[in-house]
Amino acid sequence: MSAELRVATLVAQVRAGARYRDIAPELVQRLVQRELRHARDDTTVVKAVRRQIHQVTGAFMVGTPNLAAAAAAWPGVAPSERQAWCIQRLREHASTRERLPHLDEFYRQIAARVGVVTRVLDLACGLNPLARYAMPFGAADYLACDVAGQLVQLVDVVVRDTGGGAAFVADLVAGAPPHHADLALALNLLPPLEHLERGAARRLLMSIQARTIVVSYPTRTIGGRSVGMCSAYEQSFAALVADLPWHSERLLIGDELVFIITRPSSRSPMP
Ligand SMILES: C[S@@+](CC[C@H](N)C(=O)[O-])C[C@H]1O[C@@H](n2cnc3c(N)ncnc32)[C@H](O)[C@@H]1O
Repeated sequence: MSAELRVATLVAQVRAGARYRDIAPELVQRLVQRELRHARDDTTVVKAVRRQIHQVTGAFMVGTPNLAAAAAAWPGVAPSERQAWCIQRLREHASTRERLPHLDEFYRQIAARVGVVTRVLDLACGLNPLARYAMPFGAADYLACDVAGQLVQLVDVVVRDTGGGAAFVADLVAGAPPHHADLALALNLLPPLEHLERGAARRLLMSIQARTIVVSYPTRTIGGRSVGMCSAYEQSFAALVADLPWHSERLLIGDELVFIITRPSSRSPMP
């Protein structure tokens, strides 16, 4: 079997599992190729790739929400019920569940620093776009992406109906999508990205086409333990941007460490 065919076969094997079939094939292929460098047998490669994918995607889901069913149910949700419905969904992802008690404060602080926003780019969005009702800039065009297809399907139907925009599948290890925006959100994203490939966080930041970038980090584990993550991530962020002429402001909102980056030189016109 040629090397290419072996990679394609392994990608198909990984994606044959119900929990992996909606993951961007580019990411699966990237991870398969990396595992093969260790000259592992096929079963070990499939297991290792699935474990890594789970660690950066499925592990954040709370329970096993049926995202496809939620997407199908959305058109039947009455406008007066939409916010309550979205709050229920936000509880089904660890990042938004933790942010919920501080949601208004979180977006108020960001809005106060960002100026006029006509387009938001939410990178590795999880279920965060369903919190649009709490964003003072929520009327802006909303583009969102994530590596997990079912999640994207749900986000897509909701953003289209709540002010406009779209969601799409993307593997951000390769860098940011080419869309211009006033505000890019990279919330709780850099640690999983760096886990997938060393250097991916820096590559992503450098490729984002936005005037303001909000980067955040969790300060507790998914299980709720505080194990020095705040200072570790603070140092990691400082190292990431040390040589860049960017201005960044640090905030701590609830359990989330937030950096608001302003890049004066990136004021290019929107396409
Ligand atoms: C910790 S969650 C953060 C979700 C959201 N940004 C928030 O803070 O509410 C990480 C998200 O990154 C997504 N993700 C992981 N690896 C990715 C990749 N290579 N490309 C795009 N998204 C990825 C996961 O599917 C998951 O939704």
